[in-house]
Amino acid sequence: MAELEPEQIVRLEEDGPAVVLLDQRLLPHDVVEVRCASAAELAEAIRAMVVRGAPAIGVAAAYGMALAALRGDDLEEAERVLAASRPTAVNLPWALAAMRDEPTPERARALHEEEVDRCRRMAVHAAELFTPGTRALTHCNAGGLATAGYGSAVGALRAAAEQGLLERVLVDETRPLLQGARLTAWELEQAGIPHTVIADSAAGALMAHGEVDLVVTGADRIAANGDTANKIGTYSLAVLAAHHGIPLYVVAPSSTVDLAIADGSAIPIEERDPAEVSERFPARNPAFDVTPAALIGAIVTERGIHRPPYGESLR
Ligand code: MRU
Repeated sequence: MAELEPEQIVRLEEDGPAVVLLDQRLLPHDVVEVRCASAAELAEAIRAMVVRGAPAIGVAAAYGMALAALRGDDLEEAERVLAASRPTAVNLPWALAAMRDEPTPERARALHEEEVDRCRRMAVHAAELFTPGTRALTHCNAGGLATAGYGSAVGALRAAAEQGLLERVLVDETRPLLQGARLTAWELEQAGIPHTVIADSAAGALMAHGEVDLVVTGADRIAANGDTANKIGTYSLAVLAAHHGIPLYVVAPSSTVDLAIADGSAIPIEERDPAEVSERFPARNPAFDVTPAALIGAIVTERGIHRPPYGESLR
């Protein structure tokens, strides 16, 4: 199966009208679409993670505002409902703000195209961080599914593979919702990139055995000083990588950078339903963690490779 087209992941159908989402909860076993006929239905789909991944959430929300305008709905209410769906990814409020002046299908489609274009541009920069034979490790899914086309961290892996620099990818399964084992592995399989799924807890031992050359992830929100929120477990990986002298790189479009937030302590962290972790016992389910800038070797955006101190290089 070829790489997914952006409109297969999320699109607006004006005849209806509806925002149509590829249901990421059911992949890779079932390929099913979900139709959202209102901003409220779309907000519920974002909350339930039918569509997920920071840039894809933003793109979906942009289409949601165009949908609300087509329906003649109260746009302030539509924006409020969408903004409340998930708290951590800054791409969501970023996209809603970008739609405020012109909530049209054309503007939403342009925002979608621009986001995919940013991914392709940053992948070219990120590939410079790879050397021949690189064995990479990635966490969660920062692929085309997460960015509504091409991918951020997975985009970097694609570009490195195309240049013959990538030996293989270790894919953290990413408890509790298995975005790595279900989505990243599926995307790498489609791209023909050698990959191996591991339990999240195997990463440290494999680093100690010398099987990892670099770690590459996406991001949900990057503060002005480079502190980065990403899927829960990224911080643990960063600590492990630092201990073993392995670089961890973050690849994300500028729509994920939040210069209004000085450091990671102000990033809102989503706590999801504990039942996603255990249906039998009391559980905690923080969906994201913050990796301090000091543990990040480089942040790659479409503007290039940003190195510490990020307070200067991200501006
Ligand atoms: O809870 P999710 O699946 O939406 O979390 C996604 C991630 O943490 C991704 O790594 C991040 O959004 C980057 S996507 C390019």
